[in-house]
Amino acid sequence: MNNLDLYAKAEHLLGIEEATEALYDLYRSELDDKNVTTLLDVGCGRGGFMQRLISDGVQCKGVDLSAVMIDECREQGLDAECKDVTEVDGKYDAIVAIFDVLNFLDKDSLVKFLEAIAQKLNDDGIFIADINTRYGFSDVAEGTMSSENDKEFLSVDAEFINDELHTKFTLFLKNEDENYTKYQDTIIQYFHAIKTFQKLSGLKLVEKQTFSLYDTEDKTLLIFKKR
Ligand SMILES: C[S@@+](CC[C@H](N)C(=O)[O-])C[C@H]1O[C@@H](n2cnc3c(N)ncnc32)[C@H](O)[C@@H]1O
Repeated sequence: MNNLDLYAKAEHLLGIEEATEALYDLYRSELDDKNVTTLLDVGCGRGGFMQRLISDGVQCKGVDLSAVMIDECREQGLDAECKDVTEVDGKYDAIVAIFDVLNFLDKDSLVKFLEAIAQKLNDDGIFIADINTRYGFSDVAEGTMSSENDKEFLSVDAEFINDELHTKFTLFLKNEDENYTKYQDTIIQYFHAIKTFQKLSGLKLVEKQTFSLYDTEDKTLLIFKKR
């Protein structure tokens, strides 16, 4: 299991459902009056946002680098593939990267990722993403937590050093023989300053809104148009 698949296995134990719903509402309200008929969800996870947009009549495609996430999307009948955004065919009216997806990329990968997004947008297309503020990393995300049920035990230990959040996930899953298998891996999230998004050749940052998801000003919503 790679680190993104471990995250996928652990996500339901993190208690982020309410925050996820709040983010979906925010993205949906931004897309509401944009006349979007096709949408690409990059880092689509288990496909919750696509489900909502499909019910609004939008044609949706999702990609994610976790095969576990993509399997869950496909089980729901969603059009989803485990591939990098650079390998996606076609062009879209809107592209979204919801809930920290850009923070999973280091600086070099981020710029390549954003240039690929620009190429997949229709001429009037819009790209919306969110990032954690430095406060969101240092005061909200840093720390430890644990969570368990009859079959699973998760501990999470996150430390923010030099603008990187290192989150160690330790997951114990109960087997049929009642023994537990232990899975452990680390995910690094990278803080990105707004200026990184202001000098892209393919995308123009047209709006940024810092808002409170868990705590005061822990996130920024970024809205781009194709240049
Ligand atoms: C916090 S989850 C959010 C999932 C989903 N967008 C949601 O809101 O429920 C971040 C997702 O980004 C995916 N991811 C991380 N880096 C990625 C990349 N370079 N390309 C595509 N997906 C990526 C992870 O596998 C994970 O599913």
